[in-house]
Amino acid sequence: MSHVWTNLIHNSIKFTRHRGKITIRLQQIDDLASITISDNGIGISETDQFHIFERFYKADLARERTKSGSGLGLSIVKKIIEMHEGTISVKSELDKGTTFTILLPIS
Ligand SMILES: Nc1ncnc2c1ncn2[C@@H]1O[C@H](COP(=O)(O)OP(=O)(O)O)[C@@H](O)[C@H]1O
Ligand SMILES: [Mg+2]
Repeated sequence: MSHVWTNLIHNSIKFTRHRGKITIRLQQIDDLASITISDNGIGISETDQFHIFERFYKADLARERTKSGSGLGLSIVKKIIEMHEGTISVKSELDKGTTFTILLPIS
């Protein structure tokens, strides 16, 4: 799971401008752990949100901004979370920011 947190937090830093804000929250909802990682960075368009968990996918904005990264991170993150019987979802708006929500069974 440490791979999951490293990847998501690294993305938040990479896609958020200097002095941006990143918020990490953990709470219990019944028998689930809910983890959200939010940033106020460049955001992801609605079309791109459908594809970011695919291998090698990088949004156009991300290609322009930084050459680093293979576009593999989120596909691996999703695989790891599914192995733990959890889910990951994204909510984002261009130029506003992005929130990833992970739900994991506590048992
Ligand atoms: N926090 C974020 N803010 C904006 N875009 C993001 C964020 N996290 C992921 N993305 C988008 O999803 C794409 C895929 O992410 P990832 O698989 O980690 O690849 P990489 O980091 O190598 O580009 C990124 O290239 C970027 O377009
Ligand atoms: Mg990444």
